[in-house]
Amino acid sequence: MYLKYLPTLQYYKSKDKERYQLWGGCFEEEPAAVLRRLNDSLAVDSRLFRQDIRGSQCWARELNRSGHLNDQDHKAIQHGLNNVEKEIEEELTSKGRLSDPEEDIHSVVERRLYAHAGDSALRLHTARSRNDQSATDTRLWMLRALPTLRTALKNLILVLVSRAEKEIDIIAPGYTHLQRAQPIRWSHFLLSHVWCLRDDVTRLEEQKGRLSRSPLGSGALAGCALPIDRERLAQDLGFEDVTPNSMFGVGSRDHIVEFLNWSSLCGLHLSRLAEDLIIYSSQEFGIVRLSDQFSTGSSLMPQKRNPDGLELVRGAAGLLLGESFAFSCVLKGLPSTYNKDLQSDKELLFRSYDKLLDCLKVTTGTIRTMEVNADKALRALEPGMLATDLAHVLVRRGVPFRRAHHLVGTALRRANALGVDLQNLPHQEYTAICPEFGTDEELQKVFSWSASVEQYTSAGGTAKISVQRQIQQLHQWLDSKQDDDGFRGRRRRLPLD
Ligand code: ARG
Repeated sequence: MYLKYLPTLQYYKSKDKERYQLWGGCFEEEPAAVLRRLNDSLAVDSRLFRQDIRGSQCWARELNRSGHLNDQDHKAIQHGLNNVEKEIEEELTSKGRLSDPEEDIHSVVERRLYAHAGDSALRLHTARSRNDQSATDTRLWMLRALPTLRTALKNLILVLVSRAEKEIDIIAPGYTHLQRAQPIRWSHFLLSHVWCLRDDVTRLEEQKGRLSRSPLGSGALAGCALPIDRERLAQDLGFEDVTPNSMFGVGSRDHIVEFLNWSSLCGLHLSRLAEDLIIYSSQEFGIVRLSDQFSTGSSLMPQKRNPDGLELVRGAAGLLLGESFAFSCVLKGLPSTYNKDLQSDKELLFRSYDKLLDCLKVTTGTIRTMEVNADKALRALEPGMLATDLAHVLVRRGVPFRRAHHLVGTALRRANALGVDLQNLPHQEYTAICPEFGTDEELQKVFSWSASVEQYTSAGGTAKISVQRQIQQLHQWLDSKQDDDGFRGRRRRLPLD
């Protein structure tokens, strides 16, 4: 039936199948196979089929309202697009990919629509360009997908907070430079990671305002010459606003740069958490034991339990950083509006998104199922870690801190010479260094791990009350109504046992 359109519709007979092209009227030859291979994006952008179809349905409605699509054509297009959506969905579910010969998802949808709606389909692309179409599809996809990351982040936070609540009495070494520094509550360590992740959620949410702008109606670059109500169109599609300039609308990928930068920062946070746990799970530390579900073995050494999941999370930070750097390099120095360089946006976006989502889930599962060895943590503490507290004893008795620091240093040197630790340094040695060290009984009170951590009651400190305050703040935040702001992601309880 559509043969009569051959002079205006470009079909190429390639070796295998007829290929429908949205362009080509002024071309006499088909593109070289190697160019097609480089140019074709269907394998990547077929993931946008729902957004592409939704965009087309709303566009058709606007064309109808503006008098450029009669009711009959409009009906045929809406009906046809519904069928195309079902068709594609079934194919993607059963085969995992589309085998259409067309270059991208926009061409596939239009060609398939032709099969369902006949000549009515030829009016759908009126005053529209793939430039505003693909920019719209990607933004719509992100608006749908980003809340999934947000939910995954919140699940990880919830697991960490639940552990922090349950394990609040475990005291463990705190490190700086990976050297034993001061005793801390294990929960305090867990929450230190939570606050980074909490900021990641906030930063993710902050992207929404800039992301939720519809480029549709920007045309190729100049805007739309037909009376299309862009605001209404944007609203129909669920956007908060329209892009305020058509050249910006088709050319800007700042929202993707922002997302990739965000992903790489979130990746950095996960990698630091992963690294801490990898160290703590080594036999030398033995503070945590990873579950079978989140460990792997060695093909040669039967005794091995390797933290491969955490190592992959740690490595993923590098990959995410690479993707975000790569895309900024693609954009650098591009001339205004649409250039085909921009097509790589989706590949990088999807790859980062998938990687980060998996990393979040693996981290959540690992932490939810790991065991913490409280005894091992306690045994890793040694009295030298209370040297700062000893200096504070002197400070409380009026000794200037710098002097106190040196006096405790002297005590350490003396203990070292006698081959004992600070706790076993004879009392007369202390009083010889400085009488303000007080009585032996007073001094011995310093050598208690729980008494030590309980001194740190300042906001954000490691005392129980300060840790509980953090937990309470996080619960309040987790329970707050932020979930209803459009980035949906209902809170699920993830009990630890
Ligand atoms: N596949 C293209 C992309 O995602 C669609 C836009 C094509 N526009 C063009 N002028 N060739 O970037």
